[in-house]
Amino acid sequence: MNSEMTSAEYIAAVSDIISKRESPPLACVHSYGCQLNFSDGEKIKGMLGKMGYGFTDNPENADFVIFNTCAVRENAEDRVFGNLGFLKHCKEQNPSMIIGLCGCMAGLDHVIQKLEKSYPFVDIVFGTSALDRLPRLLYEKLNGRKKAFDTNEYNMPAEGLEQVRDSSFKASVPIMYGCNNFCTYCIVPYVRGRERSRRPEDIIKEVQGLARDGYKEIMLLGQNVNSYGNDLEEDVTFCGLLNQINAVEGDFIIRFMSSHPKDAGTELIDTMLECEKVERHLHLPVQSGSDDILEKMNRRYTVEKYMETINHARNIVPDFSFTTDIIVGFPNESSEDFEKTLELMKRVKYDNIYSFIYSKRSGTKAALIEDKISDAEKSERMTRLLALQREISTESYKRFIGRKMRVLADAKGKREGWLTGKSSDFIIVEFEGEESLIGQFVDVEVTAAKNWAVTGKII
Ligand code: SAH
Ligand code: SF4
Ligand code: F3S
Repeated sequence: MNSEMTSAEYIAAVSDIISKRESPPLACVHSYGCQLNFSDGEKIKGMLGKMGYGFTDNPENADFVIFNTCAVRENAEDRVFGNLGFLKHCKEQNPSMIIGLCGCMAGLDHVIQKLEKSYPFVDIVFGTSALDRLPRLLYEKLNGRKKAFDTNEYNMPAEGLEQVRDSSFKASVPIMYGCNNFCTYCIVPYVRGRERSRRPEDIIKEVQGLARDGYKEIMLLGQNVNSYGNDLEEDVTFCGLLNQINAVEGDFIIRFMSSHPKDAGTELIDTMLECEKVERHLHLPVQSGSDDILEKMNRRYTVEKYMETINHARNIVPDFSFTTDIIVGFPNESSEDFEKTLELMKRVKYDNIYSFIYSKRSGTKAALIEDKISDAEKSERMTRLLALQREISTESYKRFIGRKMRVLADAKGKREGWLTGKSSDFIIVEFEGEESLIGQFVDVEVTAAKNWAVTGKII
């Protein structure tokens, strides 16, 4: 065997080694972070399945444990190192256990150094665009190589990798990888490289296959889906792609994330409203309601520009649903800046927000700013922000009462005999129903509203 082998040949070679064992070995793949990472995790499982691995969720029972990691905030990183510490004990009981780490943390030099110095029992490390090189790394490890590391290279991830999807009716479809935006707080461009769009024909082919297999929700993924296609030779935009996907035959809903407000304007809203399969909801991360902070974040829009998109949608569909991401406590965010964020929340009336206390990421521009705001102050702001959002959603969820919603039932509810699902406005809906409805669309009439969900009856 030599280095000229293809990924498929490595898969065959590993599968050959594994087939000689008495029973199939078990792999445990744990993904952290955003849906792009979970989508990578599905591809990793696809390759492992082809190589003959079975799966377990419990790392203690596994022969091969892979942590597919996130680096966006410090606590994400700390959790992974904590879990690696636990694996060390598992490996002491089972010395043939192979331990792998991949995902965004594998793109950080300080992580690689820390692994080499303090976590010598980690056997395999590979970066986000080296997924298809896993079979080679595993082959080398099984053939006695002590460590197999392959990091820091940002290619176009391979097409056509088999996937073991986590759901039989909801599917994630990455349309692009990487990010060009360099928001000053964010590590993603450093760990995922520059924007690379998949070819539209590859995406359409994947969606057609999913529709044929009966998938009911297609979630298009990218760090900034609105700049889809900018790097391709052919003349294709995200709105064009949405139109093409909308034309694929089948009964499914199209969702997507994330949109960057600098690129998501009125054309996007118009396209969404023209495409009957596209959800009536836009996740539009604002990060802050202060123009000063937005500038320091390098977000390249102002609050007024952001509001143009919101107003355009609401002029046509008055209760169009918006959700957002907000960072509390960007370095030296003044109390006036913070009040402006609260003001913006009241203006937009988001149905949901994902809020994070700023986390310093070394290597980013914002990490160089000397921050004078205390952690206590930041926590207090977060508490106020969450309380305000609860008030806003308590009030605004009432607008759904009496309305009919088309809901994709996706899980058992907390109460016996109840199910939960998501409406086309991305609202959580609870209703009584048979378990057999999970994975199907049902029509529900909303009878009551909470501050995080609505309840209703199937009609
Ligand atoms: N590409 C997406 C989001 C990527 S990360 C976008 O631009 O919207 C998801 C969210 O994590 C971001 O929207 C931001 O709110 C948050 N985030 C990113 N870096 C962070 C940091 N250093 N500290 C706290 N939150 C952060
Ligand atoms: Fe990070 Fe900004 Fe890129 Fe989103 S757009 S991934 S926040 S750099
Ligand atoms: Fe985390 Fe990487 Fe996603 S840093 S948020 S897993 S792109």
